[in-house]
Amino acid sequence: MIRTKIQNWLLENKIEGRLEHPADKKFGDFSVRTGSEVKLTKNNLVDKVEFVSGFTNIYLNPELLMDRAKKIKNGEFRKDLSQIGKNKSMVIDYSAPNIAKAFGIGHLRSTNIGQAIYNLYEILGWKCIGDNHLGDWGTQFGKLIVAIKKWGEMEVDKMTVEDLERLYVKFHQEAKKDESLVEEGRNWFLRLEKGDAEARSIWQKCVEISLKEFNKIYDLLGVKIDYAYGESFYEDKMAAVVEMLVDKNLIKESQGAKIIEFENMPPAMVEKSNGTTTYFTRDLATIKYRVETWNPDLMIYEIGADQSLHCRQLFEAARKLGFTNDFYHVAHGLIRWEGGKFSTRKGETIHLSEVIDRAIKEAKKIAPNNSQEQIKAVAIGAIKFNDLAQDPKKDIVFDWKRVMSMEGNSGPYLQYTYARCKSVINKKQDTKNKIQKKQSWNEEEMNLLREFYKFEEKIIEAADRFAPSVVAEYLLNLARSYNEFYAKNRIIGEKEESRRLFLTESTASILKQGLELLGIETVEKM
Ligand code: ARG
Repeated sequence: MIRTKIQNWLLENKIEGRLEHPADKKFGDFSVRTGSEVKLTKNNLVDKVEFVSGFTNIYLNPELLMDRAKKIKNGEFRKDLSQIGKNKSMVIDYSAPNIAKAFGIGHLRSTNIGQAIYNLYEILGWKCIGDNHLGDWGTQFGKLIVAIKKWGEMEVDKMTVEDLERLYVKFHQEAKKDESLVEEGRNWFLRLEKGDAEARSIWQKCVEISLKEFNKIYDLLGVKIDYAYGESFYEDKMAAVVEMLVDKNLIKESQGAKIIEFENMPPAMVEKSNGTTTYFTRDLATIKYRVETWNPDLMIYEIGADQSLHCRQLFEAARKLGFTNDFYHVAHGLIRWEGGKFSTRKGETIHLSEVIDRAIKEAKKIAPNNSQEQIKAVAIGAIKFNDLAQDPKKDIVFDWKRVMSMEGNSGPYLQYTYARCKSVINKKQDTKNKIQKKQSWNEEEMNLLREFYKFEEKIIEAADRFAPSVVAEYLLNLARSYNEFYAKNRIIGEKEESRRLFLTESTASILKQGLELLGIETVEKM
């Protein structure tokens, strides 16, 4: 269990047990179940302690609260946080779109959540390695080659991802009528794996066309993934891992195919009966490579929940092979769009570019006076926040009204609150900015002040639970507290100006840093 400075300090005072933030602020900042009243040994950082029906409620001193807020504002808190993951390393596998298919809304979710998890671990001092396990190998290429040869009206060079996708969809439609096509596809993949020149050259072009498209999307999202080895990289590394399985007696023959069996799960196929490899084998070779190259403490897979069985089989196989690293599958839920899940095979995918175009249109409506660049930041921020605000395990429904809402739980709401803070700060009159030691804070001021230090805990918890939503939710609470404070208190020109500016600056700083962790930009005005 990792703790923040404040939590550690409470521990030093013999306050042990589950430290919780009471839902009702009137019960203090921390509450812990204790048998009897706890006496603090040094209580200069605590305003008061109350023992109420089995709980010790602790009210932190405003000076302590201000001190943590200052450390967050000036970035000093990062030094403390970065001690947590010292000497630890992780590889995170995320995004991973498939060549010759559109970058779908599911890959968008993986990209957004994966990047946020990367950022969270990074701020905690872990060495992070991101790897984009592109789907650039596999039987689908056999199918695609058949389709290109049969129905492709133009040179492969001139095709777009949409053309490739259309051909892929057509393959599946035609294969329903003519089963021999599937066999033909399998043979073409076999030829590809054997190094056939024609198959290789078509495949290579498909990869180039798709990468060009994907890179445009990554640019737009502002995402840069450290590596993109992709499945094809393991082409010559699979034999070694199959050999390891054979050596450990883990391979069984089944109807000409090679499989690996598990105690409580169905078997996984390692090699098909025609000798071609599988997604599973490539993933196993990937683990071996990652261990040999980086030997990370932890390997995180940001893949949809529909691949849960695959991941469980994979991690179990890795254990059987003797890899002792920790593995974690984030297993994000689906994004639903009125009618249900999308699938490329049926050709119902909502293309990411369409989603982005629409978001930009909507952003223009809510930020009409902003520059093109800022409108883009609002649009992309809204899409990302929608992916990040909810527990990754849950399915989400894509609802434009919610995504772009200025009042609700949305990215634009946070960006708007940040811009509001900035406009207050720009009007400041009291340049001395000295805050008296003894203050009597009013309720909204105090409520806001009591939010700041939680930022550190929330970062830790979010990383620990692989759930950026913990930070997202916290930022929404912070913004709500700020807006309540703002609605009831004048700031500029008041005798409380300096401390209210302090509250405003702290809010702005946390919103900016928090959104940055989520991969979302802020805009200075809105
Ligand atoms: N390309 C795959 C898909 O779209 C996801 C790959 C995830 N990563 C992995 N190591 N299997 O379904």
